[in-house]
Formats: sequence, C-alpha cells, structure tokens
Amino acid sequence: MQMNKSLLAGVTLFLAVAASSLAQSQETLSIIPYPKEVTVQSGYFHLTPGTPILATSADARKSAELFNQFLLANQGFSLPITQMKPRGKAIILTEAEGAEGNESYLLEISPDQIQLTGRKAGIFYGLQTVLQLIETRDGKASVPSARIKDEPAFEYRGLMLDVSRHFFSTDQIKKMLDLMGYFKFNRMHWHLTEDQGWRLEIKKYPKLTQVSAWRDSTIIGQYYDFKPFIYDGKPHGGYYTQEEAKEIVRYAAERHITVIPEIELPGHSSAVLAAYPELGSFEVKDGKALPGTIPATNDKGQPYDNDLSTDVPGYWGVHYNIYGPTEKAFRFLEDVLTEVMEIFPSEYIHIGGDEVPKDQWITSEIAQKVIKKEKLADEHELQSFFIRRIEKFLNKNGRKLIGWDEILEGGLAPNATVMSWRGEKGGIEAAKMGHDVIMTPNSHLYFDHYQAADKSTEPLAIGGFLPLEKVYSYTPIPESLTAEEQKHVLGVQANLWTEYIPTNNKMEYFLFPRALALAEVAWKSKEEKNFTTFTHHRLPKRLAELEERNVFFRIPEADVSISRDAATGRHLVSITPFVANAEVFYTVDGHKADQTANRYAEPFLAPIPGEGQGPLTLRYTIVTPGGRSSNEFQVEIKLP
Ligand code: ACM
Repeated sequence: MQMNKSLLAGVTLFLAVAASSLAQSQETLSIIPYPKEVTVQSGYFHLTPGTPILATSADARKSAELFNQFLLANQGFSLPITQMKPRGKAIILTEAEGAEGNESYLLEISPDQIQLTGRKAGIFYGLQTVLQLIETRDGKASVPSARIKDEPAFEYRGLMLDVSRHFFSTDQIKKMLDLMGYFKFNRMHWHLTEDQGWRLEIKKYPKLTQVSAWRDSTIIGQYYDFKPFIYDGKPHGGYYTQEEAKEIVRYAAERHITVIPEIELPGHSSAVLAAYPELGSFEVKDGKALPGTIPATNDKGQPYDNDLSTDVPGYWGVHYNIYGPTEKAFRFLEDVLTEVMEIFPSEYIHIGGDEVPKDQWITSEIAQKVIKKEKLADEHELQSFFIRRIEKFLNKNGRKLIGWDEILEGGLAPNATVMSWRGEKGGIEAAKMGHDVIMTPNSHLYFDHYQAADKSTEPLAIGGFLPLEKVYSYTPIPESLTAEEQKHVLGVQANLWTEYIPTNNKMEYFLFPRALALAEVAWKSKEEKNFTTFTHHRLPKRLAELEERNVFFRIPEADVSISRDAATGRHLVSITPFVANAEVFYTVDGHKADQTANRYAEPFLAPIPGEGQGPLTLRYTIVTPGGRSSNEFQVEIKLP
C-alpha cells in the first residue's frame, strides 16, 4: 500500500513535469515567429568564444557570419567558423540537398551539440531561432535543449517600405532588412516612385534624379489640418544610385530576402511628369500643354493648369497627372524597366496600377484615339491595355508582373499577380480567376494607421486604427475560396506608407511591434496562433532586445486584469507590461501617472468607489529598461 502510494506520487510528479515541459514548449520560449513543432528537453548548450560552427558551403558560411555579427553585438564574442568536422561541443550546420527556397529546418539542441539541418534559407532561419533562444544563465550564453522542426505557413512574407513620400537612407533600409531577416520575412517591396518623388537612378533619364527626386516644400500637419495647405518651406528628396540599390539587393539576399521594386504606372507619376511632361496625355511645347488639348477643369471642377512642367508636388492624395498611352511613354517605361531588371533579380516587378484618375484620358485626344484604335470600351479598358502591354514586356524578359488590385478593372493582364489592398475583395476575385494573390488589406495590414483609438495620444498618422491584436488576428486565407483557389494566396504583406513618416524613429514606431505580429500571421497557420502566449511569453524578451538594438518600437499597452483576493474578498489589480524588465507607474485617482506615481511591484488592492460613484480610472506609464516612457494609458477599473 505504502509502495503504491509513492509510485502514484511518482506518476503524479512525472505528469506534472511533463505538463510543465509541455507548457514551456508551448508558451515560454520567446521565439517570434513561434516554430511549428517544439519539444523542450533538459539541460543547456553553452556558447563560448571557442565553440566552433561547422559550415561547409558558402551559403552556410554566410549565415554563420551573420550569426556571428549578431552574437558579437549582443554577447560580445563570436565563434570560429570551420570547414573541418570539429571535435567536442560545436554547432553543426548540415545543408540538405534539394530545391532552393525551401525554408524548413530541423534544430536539435543538446548540452553537447547544436545540430541544424536545412536548405539554404532553412539554415539561415534555424540560426535566427538559435539567436532568439540565447539566455544568460550563470553568466553564460545558454541555449535550452530542444528539438525544433519548423516551416512557414506562407511562402510570401513581406513588408512594403515607401521611400518616395519620404526618403530613407540605405543604412536605415539595411537596419530594417536585418530585422526582417531576424523575424523570418522574405520579401521587401520597395516603393521607389511616387507623385512626390522618384528614388532610383536611371542612367538613360538623368532628369529623374536631377528633377523628379526633389521637391521644394512639403505640407505640414495632416492633409485636412490647414486649407489652404501650409508648407514647411524646406526642400526634401534623395535617391539611390544603381550601385546603392544593388548593394541593398545583395544585403537583402544574404538574409534570404528578395527585394521587389515598384515602379508606379500609369498613375502616381507626377514627379516623372514634372521632369518629362511629354510623357503625359497632352501635346506639349516648352513644358506647356497646347491650348485646347487639356481640359479646363478636373472632375472636382477645379481649374487645370496647362503648365504641365509643374514642380514635384509636396502635398499628399491622389494626383491627376498620369502617363499618356503613347509610344513615347511606353518606350520610356520599357527603358526604365530594363535598367530596373538589371539591378533587381526579383522574378516579380511591381508596377503599381493603383489610384489612377481617368479624367486626363477622358479629355485627351491622344488617349481617345488609342481607345478607338484598339476598340476599347472605356478608360478602364485603356488602363488594362496599358498594363497588359507592360506585362508582355516583363514576361518577354522572364519577369512577372504584380500590381495593386485596381489592375482588375478593365480586365486583368493574363499572368498578373494581384496585391489586394482595398480589403480582400480584389484578392478573392483574382484567386477565383486562377491568379496568384498577395493579401495586404488596408483593414489589417496598413502600418501607417494609428495604434491607439485616442488619436491625440499618438504621433500624427494618416488615419485608421490598427492595434497589435488586430494585426495578429488576420487570417490571409478567405473562407469563401475553395481549397484550389486558396492555393493562389501566396502570402501576406504589411504596407508602410510614409506621407506622415519623415524620420527613422517614426518608421520604427509604426513598424514595431506590429511587424512581430505579422511575422506570426505569415509563418503560422490560423490554428497555431495564440495572441496571449505571443504577448505574454514571446513579446517581452523580443521588445527588450529591440531596445538594445536601438529600435524605436511603440511600447504597447500592458495587460490589466482584476482578480479577487481569496483571503479578504477584495479586488486586486495586476498590470503586466510586454517589455521584459520594464517598470510601471500608476495612479487610481484619475490623475497623471508619470514617474512620480506609484511604482507597480505586485497586484494591488483596488479602491472601492462609494455608493453611486462610477468606476475609477487607472492611469499608467511603462518605462523600459533603457528608460523610454510609453504613452500614458488609461483603463477603467470595473470591479466584477
Ligand atoms: C494603395 O494604398 N494606394 C495601394
């Protein structure tokens, strides 16, 4: 009997250990995106400056070098990379044979060895996982023993950076690429041309960088703040030389990221037309449209200026100047795309296609002649004609066209991939037609939107409200598609438009932590995602690390919960911030909670409002280990 009892206790203990290891495997490893299969084992592999990494192929060596760069910055040492099978404790990279682009990996960590097997990208991703697993134990860089089998849910995991509304340095782009690789993104969509600025050197058309890359002035405030607009009076601009762009492509490729360039057409082209007005829809002499070839007013009844060689605009919104459907314009675009294809090996070339007001074509004799000649029904079909022609050129050169979902209007080009931004409707329609689709709906993945409902607490944004949880909740596969149609949804992308994002800090604030939520949307299936473990167990360590990497992320709201204290029956308020080792300062009397307020140490007793008094307001501020303060947040303390 005695014996049985202790046996039973043993079984219970074993179950408890198994359960806790399960909990650990499911919840406590702070890897983002969380791997597909994790089994945590006991013990740690300790990294020391003498631990060799075996890397026999050039690709594996490159990934090992990048691993070392990170280790040096974070731990103060790097590891010897060897091509000879090492004796003793080591990291062994084994590059599996097979198709390039396979992103899966198997990581087996024991106290004696780290074994990583995968193809090129798989090795890179496995090493990012190892980096995220490093924790300091007894002063040693330690990696918990585990078996991790991992692969992404989606093959396309992207971020779009608009460098046209505001120009960003190559250093800043590289910093973003480092972070994208670390969180297992594999596409950077580079929005290089806009009404407000052209950002890529094109040797055949020097005015693109002499004229189109610069604007005299930019509006201040929000678009609707001041009418007439108030301008800052400061020139803004810049561009990437072809050498710089190639360097970005190379840098991205090392991190297994493909750079997809976007050259907007036929709209969003005011900057080009400021330099080359003859590429528009009207006959031009000395930079002016010939009288009678341009309408008196636009569709809002505002007068048109026949001076087409106007400056590069410094205000936002959809602009009327668009390319004409002329041989001159096609030749220009084909020349530009030829140089673009020499810089960017990406199979996909993005040609924009969004937000093309048709009034210039409606009133242009040149455009109307093309409509008649090509037997097109209207200006939408003319846009389709325009894009089909560009697609033919790209396909002839072995490339594929991607465009925003407006390219569906007037008929989709035969091989085009659609980027669905006005919700999912365009993506669904394209997938049903058998076309590939990237989901980037403005409902869930527009990272230029506000991160708090109370806009006055946030830096100026274009509009909207996109909190972290909403990004995380996104499911890229619409249920209305059949299994076959769903296969056309290649993946997801968030877009960072930069009308209101002129600084590096602001870029980082709008990207992070939302990009970390997107990383899990892109890497994990709907069933595998869990927002609670994401915020409570993975985000804190990663955000503290982002601070160490000088990333100016937005400090997210804490989790505030109210429980009942069993002993006293009173209510306790707990505040859990999502930055590791952050401090929280709070008040419950409705007054300002800065660092003079109560410092949160443990759950505290909620004050009890008197008869007829409404709920109290908890105000709190989070201060990171690096000393950055969050916005001051407010929550009503509603006692259950
Ligand atoms: C877009 O937001 N105009 C693609």
